[in-house]
Amino acid sequence: MRFCCCNQGIMASQLDSLRLALEHSPDNVPLLLLFAEACADEFQLADARSAFEKVLKKDVKNIEAKIGLAHVAQLEGKTSEAVVRAEQLIGENPEHAPAYVFLSRLLAGEGDLARARSLYDKALSLDRGVSDPGLEKTLAGVKAGNDGDDDSSKKKAGIAAGGDFMESREEDDSQPRGGAAFDLGLADFARPKVSFADVGGMDEVKKEIRMKIIHPLQHANLFNAYNKKAGGGVLLYGPPGCGKTLISKATAGEIKANFIALGLHQILDMWIGNSEKHMHEVFQLARQNAPCVLFFDEVDAFAADRRDLRQSAGRNLINQFLSEMDGSDSQNDGVLILGATNAPWHIDPAFRRPGRFDRALFVPPPDDGARAAIIEVMARQKPMGELDACALARKTAGFSGADLKAVFDLATEDALERAMETGKVIPLVTKDLVKAAAKHKPTTKAWFESAKNYAMYANQSGFYDEVLKHLGLFK
Ligand SMILES: Nc1ncnc2c1ncn2[C@@H]1O[C@H](COP(=O)(O)OP(=O)(O)OP(=O)(O)O)[C@@H](O)[C@H]1O
Ligand SMILES: [Mg+2]
Repeated sequence: MRFCCCNQGIMASQLDSLRLALEHSPDNVPLLLLFAEACADEFQLADARSAFEKVLKKDVKNIEAKIGLAHVAQLEGKTSEAVVRAEQLIGENPEHAPAYVFLSRLLAGEGDLARARSLYDKALSLDRGVSDPGLEKTLAGVKAGNDGDDDSSKKKAGIAAGGDFMESREEDDSQPRGGAAFDLGLADFARPKVSFADVGGMDEVKKEIRMKIIHPLQHANLFNAYNKKAGGGVLLYGPPGCGKTLISKATAGEIKANFIALGLHQILDMWIGNSEKHMHEVFQLARQNAPCVLFFDEVDAFAADRRDLRQSAGRNLINQFLSEMDGSDSQNDGVLILGATNAPWHIDPAFRRPGRFDRALFVPPPDDGARAAIIEVMARQKPMGELDACALARKTAGFSGADLKAVFDLATEDALERAMETGKVIPLVTKDLVKAAAKHKPTTKAWFESAKNYAMYANQSGFYDEVLKHLGLFK
């Protein structure tokens, strides 16, 4: 997707010359933009992000850099961040048609078609030149919600945060849900049925979560006797698709606690300036429903270094979040706070002070045993013939849980093709999955490439020791 008309057709081979040119004129904004967009095209997302950020340092209002950052977030799979950035951009530049199209595409991808339709209509009313036939096809026949009109921004639909693991069986519908949750758009407010047993491997992470937040809750008297304070939160970080959301849900399931999952866009309501109030309500809701796991997904989107959030609303929201976390002595009793991020290096150190996210846990890609366990779980949902989970696990080193899911999807597509030819259901066997695995590249590699630099050169107080150990670089 292109956002800037001046840079059509930049090839990968030109990246090097752009890089060279930048060495000579590092402050050249048009050049930085060209470079950033070329990097995004080549999926060099960390470089793209940093170049767009540099542009914003020089030109706070630069629209191309803002939409570029939203696009990078989208490519990184951080939909919430992309939505927030696009919404902010529209708030600041209500006449900028491409931003409406961009947000419309994002929301269409999330299944929020009505809102996508109205944003698209609004874009066309501003500039017919931004029409997008693909999007039009997706939105054909969809009736507009009321987002594109002037008041629109006040009505923001929440997109369910949290992962998609076993959606069909993980929520216990018999539980009371609390209307306030729905007022806040917290679709995930429920007691999850998944527990640690449903999470393959991750023994170290489970142990830490038990010690830090489950035991203090279950043995409150003992902890009091030793005057050992519970509280604070645990930050889970690591490559995408490796089970951060899943283990958070399973933590709630393990202790039969309620689970509230939310992303930034659900609380951040820049236009009517009530995001702080929403943040307070979310914590109140968790306190009233204790024991409760309060899960903040993509924490980096709102724990980003406060200097980067030029909006005062952003700063106020962060301060509110920190003060809710600090709480008074017993205010947060029974509220277990978990956060997840793929980009711990973007998190403001204030978030990691004692009583806040004072414990960070690295969630690595699953090892052989964990992959075999995940494979067994996934196989339960398919027509299977012979399955050697260990053999497949050995062939999928570096694969995340989400990668394994992709392998199953690929194999299923092939099997469906054959089934349609013969009219019979042909069960999947190990060989089909191994073949599919050969076609899929593990997604965790790119993450380690970025993480390695931070781990080697910005490892304050040993924060990244576990990453270094994983990479075999720990000294
Ligand atoms: N340890 C595991 N056991 C079983 N399934 C797993 C495990 N890890 C990942 N999965 C599978 O992979 C999917 C993606 O996991 P999840 O959404 O929890 O990852 P994540 O770390 O939160 O990713 P992201 O950083 O992209 O949010 C899950 O829905 C689940 O199907
Ligand atoms: Mg997640």
